[in-house]
Amino acid sequence: MIPREIIDEIVYRSDIEQVIGSYVTLKRAGSNCNGRCPFHSEKTPSFTVFPATRSFYCFGCGAGGDVITFTMRIENLDYIEAVKLLAARAGISIPEDRNDIKENNGVSRKRVQEMNLCAARFFRDCLKDQKYGAEGLRYLTEKRELSMATINHFGLGFAPDNFWALSNHMTSLGFTEDELVAAFLCGKSKKSGKLFDMYRNRVIFPIIDTTGNVIGFGGRVMDNSEPKYLNTNDTPAFKKRQNLFALNFAKKYAEERLILCEGYMDVIALHAAGFENAVATLGTAITPDQARIMAKYTKQVVICYDSDKAGLAADDKAIRLLSEVGIEARVLKVTGAKDPDEYIKKYGADNFRRLLGDTKGSFDYKLEKLITGRDISLPDEKIKISNDVCFMIADVNSSVERDIYVRRASELLGTTAEAMRSDVERIRKKKLRDFKNRQSSEAQMSLKNIGDRVNVDAAKNIRANSTEEGILGLMLMYEEFRSKAADGFEGLCADDFVTEFGRRVFEAMLELERSECGFSKAMLGQSFTPDEMGRIEKIELSRRNLAKNDTEVFSNFISGLKKEKSSNDDDNDPFAELMRLRAAVQKNKENKNI
Ligand code: UTP
Ligand code: MN
Repeated sequence: MIPREIIDEIVYRSDIEQVIGSYVTLKRAGSNCNGRCPFHSEKTPSFTVFPATRSFYCFGCGAGGDVITFTMRIENLDYIEAVKLLAARAGISIPEDRNDIKENNGVSRKRVQEMNLCAARFFRDCLKDQKYGAEGLRYLTEKRELSMATINHFGLGFAPDNFWALSNHMTSLGFTEDELVAAFLCGKSKKSGKLFDMYRNRVIFPIIDTTGNVIGFGGRVMDNSEPKYLNTNDTPAFKKRQNLFALNFAKKYAEERLILCEGYMDVIALHAAGFENAVATLGTAITPDQARIMAKYTKQVVICYDSDKAGLAADDKAIRLLSEVGIEARVLKVTGAKDPDEYIKKYGADNFRRLLGDTKGSFDYKLEKLITGRDISLPDEKIKISNDVCFMIADVNSSVERDIYVRRASELLGTTAEAMRSDVERIRKKKLRDFKNRQSSEAQMSLKNIGDRVNVDAAKNIRANSTEEGILGLMLMYEEFRSKAADGFEGLCADDFVTEFGRRVFEAMLELERSECGFSKAMLGQSFTPDEMGRIEKIELSRRNLAKNDTEVFSNFISGLKKEKSSNDDDNDPFAELMRLRAAVQKNKENKNI
């Protein structure tokens, strides 16, 4: 948890009108501003920013909250990430993540980096050591054909076949057992409680971030045993989903493009052959964070995954994530080899350079994938393929691009461009229409509380829900009602709440109110999703517009809710239900008798 003072300061110092204004065109209307909602498509602006309360709300789709919620939604970040982004923007520094420190027995990121650097040196020295490292060096130079220059460049190393080599070395340097475990360099035996080395009898690939810190390691076995690679788990210094192998080198050669491969060995072989713009993910498929990081350094990424089925399947995800951050994704498939490393060994750097000059754009790649293995000479098949292709092109927003694709696809399929173009536009219109219909029906549903995904109990408990919203709205607006509620005013307690959502909001508010730092609406964002924050905003907003908001109103809501709750409990009481049924049957009989 980030402390409340800092959250408050970020909300206070981020001018919400300015922050939102950098994404949405806002027009001043009295003390508020209006614009077209960035979270759903609309013609008439129903998106409103309230500078006075530092909040926003869309009357069309229900998105709402404070500047943190807005940033989470628009940048697709979690709470902490959004806070960090806004802090950077406002020039506020956040103290080192206290949570991180606590979770890792007080071991900080800096300390893990220090340990990693010592460990990297130790592994490197072991590789060069006749007694310990001969086998590792032989594996790298003979089996993998790496030169000493490459080995030194990447700082490759060797973990000896021994349970305590690194442990002893590191403890002699003064690192504690807990620190070594937190860094994932050592484990602790469950039986004896004794420290042991994580990496044993493996060649070691250090992972270095763009500022030159050793943040983790990959270690490969030299035979066929499992696991083939052992990678550093997430530690205070290392998040595998937010780093790329060899980006520390590749960033200098990234201007034109980056080459994205699957494995450590592919990257090393490519760099050694002169392609120093190659990077790899770290034992996972590409993540949105990694795509964003690449977008900082380049405009084009050539995806160069293995030529097997898994590589083929991974291409689509990479294309999608890279395109989403504005990168031009292209695909290179090596043929006659399983991966780029093997290809270069077999066919040499010049041939690889030729492939690099002949990569496929993502559209052509997908088009080819659609057609491969199908027979276009069969009329039925041709119609099906053409239909699939039209659906694919219909998703492209730029009309110029659509036109280019239509020409190319129709040529390939032997159909006329005109026919295909009119099909594409028809599909596109239908897609847009469906989208609009879906949205307006969603809007109508939410008006009636039907299909309310934020408060699923609201539709069944319309009266109770509106009473709950009254109580929560008053508490959100005025300190007076929060402290009354915290003191159990008129016996109000969480159990009075009928809807699960209302109860959660009430409990979260009370917890903050009773905490040392006190209540702050911005703090609710740590426990509620952006959708839920939108609802909380609306609850306060509806209350704020009413004239009468005094203790009498609060008190009436409380007694109203208690009544609702007891009748609701009756409803759920199987015995009461039985009695009601009996009464109904009885009445029915009487009616018939008359
Ligand atoms: P590969 O199995 O293709 O390995 O896995 P590679 O890098 O080409 O290595 P060689 O050439 O067979 O020696 C690709 C990547 O997937 C991750 C590693 O990051 C590896 O580089 N991986 C693979 C693991 O994390 N763990 C494994 O057990 C296997
Ligand atoms: Mn491979």
